[in-house]
Amino acid sequence: MHKIQAAITAVHGYAPEYVLTNHELESLVETNDEWITSRTGIKERRILKGEGTATSDLAVPAVEGLLKKRGIGAEEIDLIIFCTTTPDMPFPATANILADKIGAKNAWGYDLQAACSGFVFGLATGASFIESGKHQKVLVVGGDKMSSIIDYQDRATCIIFGDGCGCALLEPNTEGYGVVDSVLKSDGSGREFLHMKAGGSLRPATHDSVDKREHYAYQEGKTVFKFAVTNMADVAAEIMERNSLVADDIAWLVPHQANKRIIDATANRMGIDESKVVINIERYGNTTNGTIPLCLWEWESKFKKGDNIVLAAFGGGFTWGSMLLKWAY
Ligand code: UT7
Repeated sequence: MHKIQAAITAVHGYAPEYVLTNHELESLVETNDEWITSRTGIKERRILKGEGTATSDLAVPAVEGLLKKRGIGAEEIDLIIFCTTTPDMPFPATANILADKIGAKNAWGYDLQAACSGFVFGLATGASFIESGKHQKVLVVGGDKMSSIIDYQDRATCIIFGDGCGCALLEPNTEGYGVVDSVLKSDGSGREFLHMKAGGSLRPATHDSVDKREHYAYQEGKTVFKFAVTNMADVAAEIMERNSLVADDIAWLVPHQANKRIIDATANRMGIDESKVVINIERYGNTTNGTIPLCLWEWESKFKKGDNIVLAAFGGGFTWGSMLLKWAY
């Protein structure tokens, strides 16, 4: 018998209905479909519309779909880790709000903030509660209502982000399937290139902060791009090397979807063929914590038991990381 590993036993996702196309963005900012498509690979993204809707509302249908698929009730969940950069409110944690909305009465939970690497960090954190024997069912949610912090007057930023959410259930496995390894990194000196200037304890909201549009995501795209290309590829290559895997051993690469050019660079560095790279950026854009679980959800039917799957992410912070999974079903 193998040691206890944390295996993903179900995944699900939710993307809101409203489709914001490149053509519609042309009416908001000085841009065009050709520029967005060639620089990012994005054609459209989803937006959660409606007063009083929040990130937890993206998570409810995703989690309810997962529970139905797995055939379990919400009260069976031990722990909810909600990876998000756009919590419903600064506090309490969106994990608590979600638990209340779905009826996860026996769960404790917390939010995890690691920007676009959040879901990989969340899986790694959740896995340790399973591996230690402490918990049997850990729900890891990755979701963002990015439209709530995007400045639709900033053409360099508004074109890449969208709203969406996905989730995965982690359960113990003693047959050698599940999370095999992870490489997790952060470097806070990168914070100046991608952050939100106001709304935190450093600069609480004032009329001035609102007037200066400081409650939106601020990104120096070119610099972030340079770090993302190098670091995401580095950790993806590192996890292969330290697990003695070559390109042929990898069934799928599931990368964070920020820019198609960053994804291509990572796949090239790993030496893996485009046919093994999971890409849905053209339909959802960058949903921050939602990208990887949305990919897992959409590709679930193609994954086979025993597939080696590499996840790789890079995000604000900076944060970045990779994870090797042996798919369990
Ligand atoms: O999610 C994790 C963290 N984020 C990322 O990984 C995102 C990383 N960054 C990127 O993906 C890219 O930097 C962007 C897609 C954000 C921008 O693409 P870029 O190729 O780096 O463009 P740029 O900022 O260097 O701008 C190139 C030119 C500029 O014009 P000039 O100065 O060369 O005349 C921009 O003003 O393109 C212009 N530009 C645009 N033109 C049309 C910038 N945004 C647009 C736009 N439409 N939307």
